[in-house]
Amino acid sequence: MSTATVDQPADAAPAAAPSVDRIAITVRVRRFNPEVSAESAWVDYQIEMDPKERVLDALHKIKWEIDGTLTFRRSCAHGICGSDAMRINGRNRLACKTLIKDINPDKPITVEPIKGLTVLKDLVVDMEPFFQAYRDVMPFLITTGNEPTRERRQSAKDRERFDDTTKCILCAACTSSCPVFWNDGQYFGPAAIVNAHRFIFDSRDEGGEQRLEILNEQEGVWRCRTTFNCTDACPRGIEVTKAIQEVKRALITRRF
Ligand code: SF4
Ligand code: FES
Repeated sequence: MSTATVDQPADAAPAAAPSVDRIAITVRVRRFNPEVSAESAWVDYQIEMDPKERVLDALHKIKWEIDGTLTFRRSCAHGICGSDAMRINGRNRLACKTLIKDINPDKPITVEPIKGLTVLKDLVVDMEPFFQAYRDVMPFLITTGNEPTRERRQSAKDRERFDDTTKCILCAACTSSCPVFWNDGQYFGPAAIVNAHRFIFDSRDEGGEQRLEILNEQEGVWRCRTTFNCTDACPRGIEVTKAIQEVKRALITRRF
């Protein structure tokens, strides 16, 4: 197959780059460096950005052009890895999925670490308690014997039963927006329950009873006060509170 090309005259002007209307914004970051001070402090950065860029781009600009010590996590930059959850204008969001134009750039944009987890530096928190709760609910398929010779079959209807909770990217936006978790770091938190739900309602899994017993404990699902903060915070649109309610119901009825 050949590709047609159109010859340009030698003196043709290069195609104009699309124009970008940059605006001046203030990014107000909660900075903390335990090697410098035991206290955190707000620091303002004035930068120019295309409003269609994201808060993550603004943080990159600050780090790469103004202050290389600014510390935050990010990896994929496309809403998949879950590493850049932070409080932006007082609400948990992924920095890579938050457009500047959508968060009123006329006012300072506040960026601070998610709540309820120990801040290590600037926007980086200690995620270990979060991941420990995740590990505690055994987020893997449990089966006893009956090794299949081919794949484990499942109907589309049975797969649909837990489809919503398969979307979790473990960003912690839900857990760190939960007032119960803020006040009691022992609470498993919404994300762990979401990931337990993903396996409890999987027709191929046989560990549902074990997981339910774990979530029946003092720091389990009964701590949930149904404030819906978790559902509002989830960047994947998972109905987190509904999933928690379904686990509660399964604990009462033992049907799942
Ligand atoms: S349920 Fe949503 S908010 Fe919570 S960890 Fe998973 S993706 Fe993040
Ligand atoms: S950087 Fe991966 S989700 Fe934002």
